[in-house]
Amino acid sequence: MSQKKQLNIALIGTGFMGRTHSNGYRRIPNFFPDLQYQPVLKTVCSRNEEKTRAFAEQWGYEKVETDWKKVIADSSIDAVDICTPNDTHAEIAIAAAERGKMVLCEKPLARTLAESKTMVEAIEKAGVANTVWYNYRRLPAVTLAKQIIDSGKLGRIFHYRANFLQDWTINANLPQGGAGLWRMDADVAGSGVTGDLLSHCIDTAIWLNGSISNVTAMTETFVKERMHQLTGKVEKVKIDDACAFLCRFENGSLGLFESTRYARGHKALYTFEINGENASIRWDLHDLNRLEYFENSDDSQLRGWRSIHVTDGEQPYMNKWWVPGLGIGYEHSFVHQVADFLRSLENNTPCSPTFREAYETQAVCEAVLSSAAAGTWENVNFAIK
Ligand SMILES: NC(=O)c1ccc[n+]([C@@H]2O[C@H](COP(=O)([O-])OP(=O)(O)OC[C@H]3O[C@@H](n4cnc5c(N)ncnc54)[C@H](O)[C@@H]3O)[C@@H](O)[C@H]2O)c1
Repeated sequence: MSQKKQLNIALIGTGFMGRTHSNGYRRIPNFFPDLQYQPVLKTVCSRNEEKTRAFAEQWGYEKVETDWKKVIADSSIDAVDICTPNDTHAEIAIAAAERGKMVLCEKPLARTLAESKTMVEAIEKAGVANTVWYNYRRLPAVTLAKQIIDSGKLGRIFHYRANFLQDWTINANLPQGGAGLWRMDADVAGSGVTGDLLSHCIDTAIWLNGSISNVTAMTETFVKERMHQLTGKVEKVKIDDACAFLCRFENGSLGLFESTRYARGHKALYTFEINGENASIRWDLHDLNRLEYFENSDDSQLRGWRSIHVTDGEQPYMNKWWVPGLGIGYEHSFVHQVADFLRSLENNTPCSPTFREAYETQAVCEAVLSSAAAGTWENVNFAIK
């Protein structure tokens, strides 16, 4: 008889993230058999019944629902996983927390800081386990970067630089809104690249280099009007197509961030570089198993950027996978987040980033957008009274 504790999961939303999360849960019994909690794919919910049924069959969910409120009301569900567009996060998360469910919510936490605040308050009042899917932290090379920085090897940090570049919205005839294109509709997404892409860069930056104190930003919407898929009318585009900002971190270092969906040739180029007094680190999502590292104290004849293939069993997460030298992929960041969430239940510790930590990222996004609108430096305020 298995001594495992079962954790009944309800997944809401069956698009891109619905797939990555489902895969994450399914890999746990095979690759993390030591965990006490094992996820059970109990219910999947999306609005189209036929498509949801096909998804349930494909991924092995026991039950299908088309109304998330019924999912929340089901007493057999332990944890609700929110993989729907940003305008639904707050309502679902708050309702789930009020029912005593654990909540795993996709990023960004919500459309605005005000909406995010209601979520943090509800989740903390309910005292339920929670996490937000800023998954890039859990790629082994990024986690190794965190360990190197925390060990003090970089010394004082001077610079943090990050980019997240795409090119999928350059076509001026691309409509906005509706299925598949909700990211182009500010009423649903909250913002454009700031909430969608820079939020990832900001989460990683805060994790690696500490809090951001103030920002100055510029945004641009290159295509001003687009056909809205739902209304059929040409409407004003209210999202930021591109955003760049400068910032100061609390540790005194300077930050430079850029994101756009207009960088022709780049599909999902996320890179960061950190320059310290003694050493530097850089990482590139296109070569995600690799961390580049430069250490000034190396023998001057041999000194140069080291290219570390992060696939050794002693490096983060890698003892769970294959043998040294064999890489893993994007999808594993989600498997690792599920594993870390389950481990946090075992240990009764928070699973970072929690809603409160994701609120700080949201506060930076809000300051960035305010700064771009006003043309001023803005302080980042993430205190919740
Ligand atoms: N962590 C990451 O790297 C990452 C990557 C992509 C998206 N995301 C986030 O994940 C969320 C979903 O993005 P996506 O790319 O999977 O979107 P998607 O458009 O591919 O899928 C959205 C799903 O939600 C369903 N849905 C919408 N409204 C619903 C409702 N009221 N009730 C039930 N189901 C509903 C849709 O039918 C669809 O199945 C967003 O918040 C997005 O920002 C995160």
